[in-house]
Amino acid sequence: MFAPNLNKTAMPVFYEKVALMDYLSSIKTTNSTIGFVPTMGALHEGHQSLMRQSTTENDRTVVSIFVNPTQFNNPEDLAKYPRNLEEDVSKISNVNSNIIIYAPSVDDIYEGKTLSQSFDFDGLENKMEGKFRPGHFDGVGTIVKRLFEIVNPTNAYFGEKDFQQLQIVKKMTEKNNLNVNIIGCPIYRETNHLAMSSRNERLTLQEREEAAIIYKTLEAAKTKFNSESAAKVTEWVKKEFERSDSFTLEYFEIADETTLSTCLKKNKNKKYRAFIAVFVNNIRLIDTISLN
Ligand code: PAF
Repeated sequence: MFAPNLNKTAMPVFYEKVALMDYLSSIKTTNSTIGFVPTMGALHEGHQSLMRQSTTENDRTVVSIFVNPTQFNNPEDLAKYPRNLEEDVSKISNVNSNIIIYAPSVDDIYEGKTLSQSFDFDGLENKMEGKFRPGHFDGVGTIVKRLFEIVNPTNAYFGEKDFQQLQIVKKMTEKNNLNVNIIGCPIYRETNHLAMSSRNERLTLQEREEAAIIYKTLEAAKTKFNSESAAKVTEWVKKEFERSDSFTLEYFEIADETTLSTCLKKNKNKKYRAFIAVFVNNIRLIDTISLN
């Protein structure tokens, strides 16, 4: 089904999985590739860079726009999540007017039962975001698996800002023997290096400027990690945020990139990453940096 009111862009916009699946099977040939960029809308340049990569690497690209209720542990966050389909469609058409859009309703996805499936991600789900957002990764696993079944992509693109999500999606794909390549893409940043996020729209101009503290702290932590233990660096970061009036640290962790286990003792054969979650005026921002 094509969106009547959005057809200024003449882009294929589908609201129902059955229609999307019909369309995809009509355009798919034996060797053609489908790239997939799942999103919750409120698109920014970070999303557009994923779409660009997908359109370069695949014959056709599907972008989904769906604010997934089962991955929100906080109802206020779900209610306030920015939604503007018309603007999103126009941003997608600026990348490539050949992109196929899937913007389903909650019912089209969940068919009357808006519930998460329960997953075992080998413990990845219990760290950091999983600790502070109970049920979040079951919601992410549920929607991503569902969307993969509908779109049946060759390659799927995820931003590294949500690095834990990226590892979890890889694990879910592997454990369920899904035939999809999961491709992690670099973080897109604003000019003050704040990681691009749909939630940034909710910040005031001043908060947005001051949020530079997040990446500045990550960069300083990276430098300190060359000569200091993970525990010492973590202590330092906590103190930095205690001095801030507007930003509250939820967590800072230095963890093994693969297992996401906290780094207790440095091992030069392992790859480490710092992860941070911060609140400003009830808005939750996350970021991450590779340390070695
Ligand atoms: O990263 C996101 O925007 C969401 O978690 C995703 C992958 C689209 C699933 O709802």
